[in-house]
Amino acid sequence: MLVILKRDNEEINLQAAQLIASAIKKKPSLTLGLATGNTMVGLYKHLAHLHKEERLDFSQVVTFNLDEYLGLPATHPQSYHHFMHENFFRHVNVPPRNIHIPDGGIRGDYDEYCASYERAIRDAGAIDLQLLGIGRNGHIGFNEPTSSLASRTRLKVLSQETLDDNAKSFGAGEDSPRCAITMGIGTILEARKIILLATGESKAAALAKAIEGPITSAVSASALQLHPDVTFILDGPAASQLMQRDYYHRVLKMTALLTPDRLS
Ligand code: GLP
Repeated sequence: MLVILKRDNEEINLQAAQLIASAIKKKPSLTLGLATGNTMVGLYKHLAHLHKEERLDFSQVVTFNLDEYLGLPATHPQSYHHFMHENFFRHVNVPPRNIHIPDGGIRGDYDEYCASYERAIRDAGAIDLQLLGIGRNGHIGFNEPTSSLASRTRLKVLSQETLDDNAKSFGAGEDSPRCAITMGIGTILEARKIILLATGESKAAALAKAIEGPITSAVSASALQLHPDVTFILDGPAASQLMQRDYYHRVLKMTALLTPDRLS
């Protein structure tokens, strides 16, 4: 596990964009797992910039998004389909046939649909690089507290904390979705490499538990401790409750010296 501490959002986005860009250059047909949320907006801007100004080529990249709200059509402004199109896909050249986002419009036969999403990931040769954010309650994707650490893509009921967070984005009087389709923790852990981005103090407690606490289904992100190649990229406020900050700084210095490839 590598914990990279950055000064601000801009530095975080730059670092994450660099890691993704070099992964694509090494393997143009990269299978990229994508995430939504405010934390990702700046990163997608950077990637769009790299595409436009430095010809970063997404034409062979295959993408799988983590999750989507159940019951929202793709055109709904709060749907993750809409978020991804507006913030990323319309600015880069990922072919539409290579884009996979769980369908929030399905009705019934959820298990069959979720199994087909898992099959599509397997058929694409597994996810090479999975991007993650984190919820205040430690969720990754929509794997709410008490999700099985072995869970696969499935229908998930959202927690009250998540409903409260989401209520801010939905219009007054508009019901926010109660459920989502999300990759499971087991699905996420099968990615070859994982990068988690987080900013702001509201994430500090969840990150301290995820990185330095015991592995527990009460904090889904703590399952990442089981993965051999995870990089956390955090700003100061998000890292403020970590006990081992000095150690992470020392590791970072040595990483830059001995294995600089891990940072660029
Ligand atoms: C939602 C998404 C998560 C994301 C989280 C954080 O819950 N399902 O994948 O990590 O939001 O969002 P933000 O970056 O807006 O804090």
